[in-house]
Amino acid sequence: MKKTELIYEGKAKKVWATPDPDVVIVDYKDDATAFNGLKKGTIAGKGVVNNRMSNHMFRILAREGVPTHYIEELSARETAVKRVQIVPLEVIIRNVAAGSMSKRLGIAEGTALRCPVLEYSYKNDDLGDPMINDYHALAMGLCTGDELKTIAGYAFKVNEIMLAYFKKLNVDLIDFKIEFGRDKDGKIILADEISPDTCRFWDSATKEKLDKDRFRRDMGGVEEAYAEMMKRLGIN
Ligand code: TMP
Repeated sequence: MKKTELIYEGKAKKVWATPDPDVVIVDYKDDATAFNGLKKGTIAGKGVVNNRMSNHMFRILAREGVPTHYIEELSARETAVKRVQIVPLEVIIRNVAAGSMSKRLGIAEGTALRCPVLEYSYKNDDLGDPMINDYHALAMGLCTGDELKTIAGYAFKVNEIMLAYFKKLNVDLIDFKIEFGRDKDGKIILADEISPDTCRFWDSATKEKLDKDRFRRDMGGVEEAYAEMMKRLGIN
């Protein structure tokens, strides 16, 4: 599989076209941003961790019945994926209060939630990815009602699978963000990435943070946290 032209460069990934119109190559960078690009930096080796971890998770999820864009890992940083049209929604699931939920609602970080919380943000950097609800998504034509039902169903299923999986690695899955796309037949499939950039992972015993919050909050030990997640996943 060979890269032809660069079709998109985001904050953490490049996407390349290939000779097959239905296949693109995702190329993970070490660049890190936070607060909608306000904070910039590099996390050495992050691209490798995020590529390998995303692929590992996508393979597990596919086995459990969640369709994904994953096709084949090509190198440490590059993966062939199905070309999709991204649904402009950031789909967030929370098991424990943290981050923007703690801030917005005044709930201490680390407070267990009585049930998982599903949130949507409208993917729009100019607007700072504002939180919306189902009605906004439908009213704005971001997706159909059937698509939204499929997306919510998959999001909760991804949560169940990942909660159980990370528990065995002594990692609490606090929350995560996923994105979906429409494949060439219009089918909703899981896309983007699943990594320490897009999930909150806390060590189950010590509650030590093993994710991008270490970068967002200038806590130090950022590379070490990403490396530790690789090690626990057995993909280092
Ligand atoms: P939040 O608490 O800042 O809203 O973040 C919720 C989850 O979403 C957390 O696991 C980090 C992830 N996330 C992203 O993947 N991209 C983003 O741009 C933001 C703000 C959060």
